[in-house]
Amino acid sequence: MLSDTARSEIQALMGRYPQPRSAILPALYVAQREIGWLPTEAMDEIATLFGMEPMEVYAIAGFYNMLYKEPKGRYHIEICTNVPCKLRGADKMAEHLQKRLGVGFGETTEDGQFTLDHMECLGSCATGPMFFVRRSGSDWGRYYEDLTPERIDAILEDLLSGEDWPMERSPAGPYHHDHHPETNFLLARIDKPDSHTIESYLADGGYQTAPKVLAMSPQEVIDEVKKAGVRGRGGAGFPAGVKWGFIPKDLYPRYLVVNADESEPGTFKDRLIIEYDPHELLEGIICTAWAIQAHYAFIYIRGEYMFGAQRLNQAIAEAKARGFLGKHIFGTDFDLEVIVHRGAGAYICGEETALLSSLEGYRGHPRLKPPFPAVAGLYAKPTIVNNVETISHVRHVLEHGADWYRQWGTERSPGFQLICLSGQVKKPGVYEIPYGTTFRELIYDMAGGTVDDRPIKSIIPGGLSMPHILPDKLDIGIDFESLQQAGSLLGSGGVIVICEGENIVPITRRTLGFYREESCGKCSPCREGVGWMEKILKRVEAGQGTLSDLDTMERVTKYIEQQSFCPFGPAAVWGLQSTLRHFRSEFEAYILETNPDQEKPSLPARPIYRPYVGEPLENMLDD
Ligand code: FES
Repeated sequence: MLSDTARSEIQALMGRYPQPRSAILPALYVAQREIGWLPTEAMDEIATLFGMEPMEVYAIAGFYNMLYKEPKGRYHIEICTNVPCKLRGADKMAEHLQKRLGVGFGETTEDGQFTLDHMECLGSCATGPMFFVRRSGSDWGRYYEDLTPERIDAILEDLLSGEDWPMERSPAGPYHHDHHPETNFLLARIDKPDSHTIESYLADGGYQTAPKVLAMSPQEVIDEVKKAGVRGRGGAGFPAGVKWGFIPKDLYPRYLVVNADESEPGTFKDRLIIEYDPHELLEGIICTAWAIQAHYAFIYIRGEYMFGAQRLNQAIAEAKARGFLGKHIFGTDFDLEVIVHRGAGAYICGEETALLSSLEGYRGHPRLKPPFPAVAGLYAKPTIVNNVETISHVRHVLEHGADWYRQWGTERSPGFQLICLSGQVKKPGVYEIPYGTTFRELIYDMAGGTVDDRPIKSIIPGGLSMPHILPDKLDIGIDFESLQQAGSLLGSGGVIVICEGENIVPITRRTLGFYREESCGKCSPCREGVGWMEKILKRVEAGQGTLSDLDTMERVTKYIEQQSFCPFGPAAVWGLQSTLRHFRSEFEAYILETNPDQEKPSLPARPIYRPYVGEPLENMLDD
């Protein structure tokens, strides 16, 4: 079923990785590009090429949303309806799209031109409402942002007429805001034309730090990053230099894995670095790989960042052509290969051990820790997994020194961070600010306040997983410790602002819907529990809730929080726990208003299956 060209491309991909099985996702993408979807026969052929059982390939393909197990229309439109986009009117746009195309979610138009789906966060929360469109049988996929009904109509017309839009972001996107020029480093170049090219990067002094770092000893590099106190920007905030120091001595090979699977709703900062300053990231990768003595670095990028992956591959080719990557980089004895590896639509792969399972060519299931990846990670070898922003900080820290970095921030949260501001504010976008900047400064002084100057009801301070905080915390600093004291966490730095007038019930229900959709299914507290929480919330929203539902949810979320296999379980319920804590009276009022008699919902009729003894099938079901 696969052409000779596709088969050779897959074989070449297998040769790129230390272990060929890692090429399974790229191989499935090749087949999907050629056929438009993944018929069983194509997966069987791939299984033969990899020497795997066909069932293994089906299981892998079945895990990832971006791999199609059935044909789609010529254009596959996926509209984000997650909370930050919802707060900016995504539901209305989704309704308009359905009307305009005459199909519901999961359906294809009669002429086969469009398949419509709704989607979880796509890393475009400040420019929502938005949708992602992929063209069947190609590598073309594009974000359309700042949607209005008129813009949607025009886009559909253009797509039908075959207009070939470039994959760049919408120029209208109010994205980067430079309100703290003294800490504008990571994004300092992104608004320049051609900021992604090596010529532009070199003209701005790029690739001058890496050769200096290569002249230091690896331990000196680790010590400098440790001294600076650079904390991980992916969610946990663990100090990068300390993590690097956990690698066992004399154990080789070692790997560097850059986590670019930015999927936490409300987070869209790494995308800007990847798309508009990829060489900054590559220089950080060179410095980090030298520090840990890794000759392979993988950038695991979320599948939807197709444009970002293109930009990274282009940047790697440019750096290789100049001798900055590949063999004997910068004229030294050090070799470094950087491989861009696209995920395929699974939020759990942002968790480092799930990411490693995925990169090894398995379903993205998390693994037990210990052993930690620094000891036994990729292919069971010492591996450092760091987020894109963390690695990009490393390049600046090593250029200017630890003391320079420590002049900003607080004692335990030194430096500055990219904060993604979304929701109901006048100027959503990415802000590069010193730790300790207050929420009030961010929202009112920098972002111009809230939409229509409405009072703030609640803030989610670190991406959708994090517990809400109330506006009485507007004057606390945005840093790891202050948020912990306030009962939440800084997480991935995604600040989502919700204003008075918003109903907390649908917001909480949509939050749980995301986690139900994205649970990897490995452990039952998370797989079953989160789905049940969403079902209860749906019932409450539909006017069939009872006050006892609130106690049930409170109780069950504790089990999910404490007994799930990986951090996904707690993250899935912290939002619900905090809204029940802060807005219980609003939940109660809603329930009493919509179900005043507190009628218990009738359970749906359930068929009871008996062992087959030969009677007609209809007799086997109870009413
Ligand atoms: Fe829609 Fe992030 S892109 S919520």
